[in-house]
Amino acid sequence: MTQRPYVVDEMITAKAIAARIEALSMEIQREFSDTDKLVVVGLLRGSFIFIADLVRELSLAVEVDFLEASSYGNEMESSREVRILKDLRSGIEGRDVLVVEDIVDTGHTLSHVTGMLRARNPNRLKSIALLDKPSRREVDFRADWIGFEIPDEFVVGYGIDFAQRNRNLPFIGKVRFTDDG
Ligand code: IMP
Ligand code: MG
Repeated sequence: MTQRPYVVDEMITAKAIAARIEALSMEIQREFSDTDKLVVVGLLRGSFIFIADLVRELSLAVEVDFLEASSYGNEMESSREVRILKDLRSGIEGRDVLVVEDIVDTGHTLSHVTGMLRARNPNRLKSIALLDKPSRREVDFRADWIGFEIPDEFVVGYGIDFAQRNRNLPFIGKVRFTDDG
């Protein structure tokens, strides 16, 4: 299948993202000020740029770990079944954990992942997502912190892909198809 032609229209600038992360990091720091080491868990692959920028704003001792859950594949449709493709390297029992995700869409991914991690008995488990599409929600889930609420648009950039492309865009943009299909 060949890719339909599309362009990416800028939606959230790199500057706006940086300003929002600075504000969020202050709230996160306040929440975890009493912890001796925060485990920051990035969901691969979409959160890799967000987590990199976020942890550099935190004046806290942090450990960084990653988890990969299956999601879209190369389609623009969300899958309901969430599988763990790569688990954490570290145990989190009794520890303070922040899960970092790119987008909450239907909510299946983060609700499954946080449920699984909560069963490991962390001391505290919080979640942050850069983007939230509340109108797409299928399960009742809210991240503790959200960067930006966005409408039901397919977005790319700042780590987020469409068929494994556009992750390296420094801003968030929406995909607009240019054929008449
Ligand atoms: P959920 O399980 O439906 O909440 O989906 C979450 C995952 O779907 C995200 O981590 C993304 O990988 C992917 N996703 C949702 N919306 C978009 C989008 O607009 N662009 C690219 N990926 C998306
Ligand atoms: Mg994802």
